[in-house]
Amino acid sequence: MDLNRFFPTENEIPAQHALDGFIEQQEYLINGKISSWDGPFQEVLSPICVEGDDGKIRQQALGHYPLLSEKEAIQALEAATGAYNNGMGTWPTMNVQDRIRHVEDFTLRMQENRKEVVKLLMWEIGKSYQDSTKEFDRTVEYIRDTIDALKTLDRNSSRFQIEQGVIGQIRRAPLGVVLCMGPYNYPLNETFTTLIPALIMGNTVIFKPPKYGVLLHRPLLQAFRDSFPPGVVNTVYGDGKIVIGPLMKSGKIDVLAFIGSSRVADILKKQHPSPHRLRSILGLEAKNAAIVLPDTDIELAVNECLLGALSYNGQRCTALKILFLHEEIQETFLEKFNAKLEKIKTGMPWEDGVKITPLPSTETVDYMNELVDDARNYGAEILNSEGGKSIMTFFFPALVYPVNDKMKLYHEEQFGPIVPALSFKNLEEPLEYIRQSNYGQQLSIFGSKPERIARLIDPLVNQVCRVNINSQCQRGPDTFPFTGRKDSAEGTLSVSDALRVFSIRTLVAAKSTDANKSIISSIVKERESNFLSTDFIF
Ligand code: G3H
Repeated sequence: MDLNRFFPTENEIPAQHALDGFIEQQEYLINGKISSWDGPFQEVLSPICVEGDDGKIRQQALGHYPLLSEKEAIQALEAATGAYNNGMGTWPTMNVQDRIRHVEDFTLRMQENRKEVVKLLMWEIGKSYQDSTKEFDRTVEYIRDTIDALKTLDRNSSRFQIEQGVIGQIRRAPLGVVLCMGPYNYPLNETFTTLIPALIMGNTVIFKPPKYGVLLHRPLLQAFRDSFPPGVVNTVYGDGKIVIGPLMKSGKIDVLAFIGSSRVADILKKQHPSPHRLRSILGLEAKNAAIVLPDTDIELAVNECLLGALSYNGQRCTALKILFLHEEIQETFLEKFNAKLEKIKTGMPWEDGVKITPLPSTETVDYMNELVDDARNYGAEILNSEGGKSIMTFFFPALVYPVNDKMKLYHEEQFGPIVPALSFKNLEEPLEYIRQSNYGQQLSIFGSKPERIARLIDPLVNQVCRVNINSQCQRGPDTFPFTGRKDSAEGTLSVSDALRVFSIRTLVAAKSTDANKSIISSIVKERESNFLSTDFIF
């Protein structure tokens, strides 16, 4: 493979995927107003490099976005706390049906921007066209499912309960101001899987896009502005220390919805002056293992492990990040895996069937090289011929074998296109690895003997939060719970769980006397309360 010809020249970029010019984002949304920033900006470089007329390969400059200061961050906070108004604002007191209408309205406007957002996903984070489209559509579907789940939740709450002579109506109510920070690998989807449930439950939101994946949110700013009352959705951009630190230190953030590293999550949580007031929903690191048993269907295991380890260049928290291969099948497995890896399609995100694309920065490639060098120093080899070759932002996926506990690759989450593998004789070896790991998200078992698999399931479900059988690890379907133990997560997300984590149960109760019954009946009949109501959403 000639890496010098890996990146295209300007003329080689297909017209329908070409950029529409440098994006000068000056806008930020605070309190229902899109303001124009005239301070410093952050330049955005694409993972995609382009070969210039001078023969030099450079990361394509995409645009810039505002580097807001503490002042704007505090304005965003004041807007969000103002709109929440201690739970008395229009949004937190609005009836569920009306809040749903606002979210539906937003979804329609969002869909009008599909083409532009998908293109920016490709250029900003290097995700393939197919996966970028999937990310957008999956997000729209997630919003629709969230609306349906809320309707069900609300229908179940649209009734009174009478227990031990007490009448009660129990509903879920919002928590306050939510700070939403999504990750760069799913900058749209994972941000919206917290932002939308937070909003629809009546919270107000401050939202900061991830380090890579900022500009793609720009086309949605107007949709946010036009679909929600002022102050309900606010955006901040810039250096986390400058714009996020003051928000956390203010003590006015009620919920932290953060997907990123546990190191940053800890810093943010510690900044809050009253930690007991802060609810945290965190999606953090993972080092999901595959255990390939001797009786496995090798073809199937190879396909799932390849997909699990290398979809979107391995940049998924759910990716398979270490493979434990039983010594009886290790050789055949590696041979077949290698054969597929040799043929894997690398290239630009717009190429048909492309599987491996450029990484977000040259620093990410440096880290991949560091991991591979370290593994080599401790005796591992790269098994595939092109593995580990790199240029600028591109790193050819590497199958590294055998890894051991001296290597960084054994412990660290690589979050990139490296597949570390090792063989085992005794099942205790992978089990001990999983027990000792700092992470506890998911794992995959490959095998065909039910009794063998069953013996692994019981001890392993208490180590991780999802055991996959003959299947790669993954978040979906989005109606399934998504969480982790240890340093991997806090709180559970799924379409219905998310509605719970961004709300709290609250109730109205009264002794079942005639006088109280009459008061409650009158409130309900005259529709005097949004909370105390038996209205049924169809
Ligand atoms: O980065 C972590 C994502 O939640 C993984 O989602 O399994 O659907 O790729 P996925």
